Amino acid sequence: MKAVIPAAGRGTRFLPATKAQPKEMLPLIDKPVIQFVVEEAVASGIDDILIVTGRGKRAIEDHFDKSFELEEILKRGGKNGLLREVRGISDLANIHYIRQREAKGLGNAIYYAKKHVGDEPFVVLLGDDIIFSDVPCTKQLMEYHRGYEAPIIAVNRVEKDRIENYGIVDGKRIRDRFYKVNDLVEKPKQEDAPSDLGITGRYLLTPDIFNAIDKTRPGKGGEIQLTDALRILSRERELYAYDFEGVRYDLGNKTDYIKATIDYALRREEFSGWMRNYLKGAGRVKPGD
Ligand code: G1P
Repeated sequence: MKAVIPAAGRGTRFLPATKAQPKEMLPLIDKPVIQFVVEEAVASGIDDILIVTGRGKRAIEDHFDKSFELEEILKRGGKNGLLREVRGISDLANIHYIRQREAKGLGNAIYYAKKHVGDEPFVVLLGDDIIFSDVPCTKQLMEYHRGYEAPIIAVNRVEKDRIENYGIVDGKRIRDRFYKVNDLVEKPKQEDAPSDLGITGRYLLTPDIFNAIDKTRPGKGGEIQLTDALRILSRERELYAYDFEGVRYDLGNKTDYIKATIDYALRREEFSGWMRNYLKGAGRVKPGD
């Protein structure tokens, strides 16, 4: 299965950090956000990835490319651990790039993948969402797809005051954590939302989505929304939503970004003991302590 990662968004919410660098390159400690997403795809057994980029996104291509100069410097300095790590990034997967010419929305960005994915189902991973889980979220979707052979959207329950930030699914529960989709709405007002099942940035889609995107008129923000295309598709075929197992961080949101950084530090052995102690007195520690 192929993966598509849209990475064309402007990152306005993280200005000024994103003035001169893509939001996908913001790191959690020392790893750019987009690398987490690529690693999730790879850990799910995917080795062909299309990244939909746009203006100002060249750093992403450089990150996954081989860097001979850097490798040479690390080799000469005897920094073998770092050398392995840097080499590993360019060997992760076959990564292809296509540029979205205008920022016309997520649905439009996905449309750029039409030729690359051909007649096969594919997965979409949004770079804003990082998920920590035992089984990669994308793999969870792929396992369900084997049984249902239909598009599956990853969802999670969102707090009421965050409903307006997400696509919301109206679904009928058919088994534990699994819903048949009746309808979807992009970023509804809290009072109009059919549920609290928010779309997370992981989708397993089938090629008929492209036809649906073709029929989709501009929606929220004047953009072609993937949620609206899925809504059209839901009237033509069965769609499912899966409340995946794992913790999701929406990195478009600053508090989630801080939480993800802390939780990632706690997951890394080199920081976890120190971090736990530090958090007990955070804010009270003097510089240099
Ligand atoms: C996009 C989708 C939205 C989804 C969200 C997940 O919104 O349009 O339906 O819930 O990703 O992160 P964005 O965050 O790009 O505004």
